Amino acid sequence: MAKILVTGGAGYIGSHIVNLLRSTEHEVVVYDDLSTGRRESVTFGRLVVGELEDIEKLEGLIQEERFDACFHFAGSIIVPESVENPLKYYNNNTQNTLDLINLCVENNINKFIFSSTAAVYGEPAGGVCTEETSTNPINPYGRTKLMTEWMLQDVAKAHKDFEYIALRYFNVAGASVDGRVGQCSPLSTHLIKLACEAALGKREELLIFGDDYETRDGTCIRDYIHTDDLARAHLDALDYLLGGGKSEVMNCGYGNGFTVKEVIDVVKRVSGVNFRVKVAPRRDGDPPVLMSKTEKISKKLRWKPKYNDLSVIVKTALDWEREL
Ligand code: UFG
Repeated sequence: MAKILVTGGAGYIGSHIVNLLRSTEHEVVVYDDLSTGRRESVTFGRLVVGELEDIEKLEGLIQEERFDACFHFAGSIIVPESVENPLKYYNNNTQNTLDLINLCVENNINKFIFSSTAAVYGEPAGGVCTEETSTNPINPYGRTKLMTEWMLQDVAKAHKDFEYIALRYFNVAGASVDGRVGQCSPLSTHLIKLACEAALGKREELLIFGDDYETRDGTCIRDYIHTDDLARAHLDALDYLLGGGKSEVMNCGYGNGFTVKEVIDVVKRVSGVNFRVKVAPRRDGDPPVLMSKTEKISKKLRWKPKYNDLSVIVKTALDWEREL
């Protein structure tokens, strides 16, 4: 049994990990400012409402609870916003994370699991990434995440007891299969969420950002992964660290690619609604292909995805969106 601090545990990704932690023996405290997360998304453990930059509050909590591990999800995640307001991202994602890591080191929290992103690869040649693919983020969001990976790498080298796993998420989508948590953010730019909104009549049409890429149908290819499988990867990462595993950076995706048009077809089929779709110009900074190699996470964490099926991802996303 471990005592776990989950920053950002009321948000889209964090709430799925907390929801899965319900089925374990671990004890959970969520620390979240509820800026994008929701109180009712915390289905397990204690919720402490606080800002990540409120170091005193966080330190008080850490000293009171004596955590064994930290899952760190709190952060800003909207790529275009990071271009417009980079300092917000360097503050929320880099500065605040530095302070959090510092508190962990000072207070003997030696297992750290960090939500990183495939955005650290930027526009990789060929589009299929192993963990050795060179990192070259093309926006402040990706840079702030990569900077955190570097901090963790250096800290783990300097502090022999400190171990971390950074999971580089590919395109996370869907909602928990038990229907308890899902994506709520009204500012989401994610394809599957927006397509579900179109299918449910919450938006008039869906735009395809570019159909002149060099892919099988001209639209961008992504590796979509179900939230519950992503959540499982975090628990596997925790087990690995608790079992004496060493620090690692790992991709987290299925290794399957779908084009934007293929995703739209699945949403239309699963929903039974032929919503309006229009081709628009390319969106800045979209790599044509972004897919994961999955050998490392499968081997090291023995991670076994259960929902590697785009129809399931879409169905859970639709069911959730209908109830919102
Ligand atoms: N797309 C459309 N229309 C839309 C929305 C998206 O055509 O209305 C397209 C995009 O152009 C892209 C694909 O659908 O080709 C996927 O776009 P998303 O916005 O769903 O996801 P991204 O691949 O842009 O970004 C995601 C996460 C980021 C992360 C990135 C890299 O949102 O946080 O993957 O891992 F940085």
